[in-house]
Amino acid sequence: MQQFSANIFSNSKISNCFYEMVFSWKPNTIPLPGQFVTIRAEPNTSPLLRRPFALSGFYESKKRCSIIYQKRGPVTTLLAGKSPDEQIDIIGPLGNPFPIPGKKNKAILIAGGTGIGPVVFLCSRLKNLNLEYISIFGAKTKSSIPDNQFIKQNFVICTDDGSAGYKGTTTDYLKSISNLMTSDTILFACGPQPMLKSCNDFACSHKLPCYVSVEQIMACGVGACMGCAIKITKEPGFARACKEGPVFKSTEIDWN
Ligand SMILES: Cc1cc2nc3c(=O)[nH]c(=O)nc-3n(C[C@H](O)[C@H](O)[C@H](O)COP(=O)(O)OP(=O)(O)OC[C@H]3O[C@@H](n4cnc5c(N)ncnc54)[C@H](O)[C@@H]3O)c2cc1C
Ligand code: FES
Repeated sequence: MQQFSANIFSNSKISNCFYEMVFSWKPNTIPLPGQFVTIRAEPNTSPLLRRPFALSGFYESKKRCSIIYQKRGPVTTLLAGKSPDEQIDIIGPLGNPFPIPGKKNKAILIAGGTGIGPVVFLCSRLKNLNLEYISIFGAKTKSSIPDNQFIKQNFVICTDDGSAGYKGTTTDYLKSISNLMTSDTILFACGPQPMLKSCNDFACSHKLPCYVSVEQIMACGVGACMGCAIKITKEPGFARACKEGPVFKSTEIDWN
């Protein structure tokens, strides 16, 4: 983990709700899919708290990283207004990555909403390693789908209203491909909590391992404040999303 000032290379609107930002990466540590950074958008202390964002890619030869983010409140509004060559303050890489499946496994990657970033990163890693995967991205409607070549080429798109791709949720699609699941299938998911819970339910009913990355609201991002605690099924009954997570085995989470 390192704090550094990153130079923005590009920052584009890629759907009605998503932006993609590419920035320089200074630490010697290579970030892995599932890990995140915390960002301060302005040099002053307003907004006071840094915000966490999962990395959506790492381009080693250029030493650049990317995030895909949704404009939601003060920090993401500031980020959306940034131009190339402006600076942002980064701490990272933080948290634990997704495990990488083996050659005999088939990975099913499921992304919903702002969970798209880490799943794109994982998908590109599996592709580079020539591992087998099916990637699924769920959005409300066609205009929410990121205009990103990699997503278009590698993801099955699901929309709630059927305006693009499969009509239904990612869980509906998952159920429709149940016949493709074998004992070597592993699920990986990031997105809204109800989607993660559905993925866990599906995995449990098919006796499959499932890893989820949780997007808990965070304060310090480095394990000091307990602000991101989630309930887990084993002792001591809670875990810090920023330190023990954000990736957890889905059965470790207390979904109630
Ligand atoms: C590990 C991790 C990875 C993340 N990765 C991404 C990412 O790749 N892309 C992305 O767009 N966002 C991601 N997030 C969420 C991101 O941190 C928030 O969107 C961020 O707080 C927005 O900052 P803001 O100042 O613009 O809005 P805020 O004022 O912080 O929030 C605006 C509104 O959104 C709600 N909100 C904020 N964060 C969340 C959340 N995690 N879940 C549900 N509601 C929330 C707040 O309650 C508030 O109502 C991630 C969060 C975590 C913990
Ligand atoms: S955000 Fe402070 S402990 Fe996780």
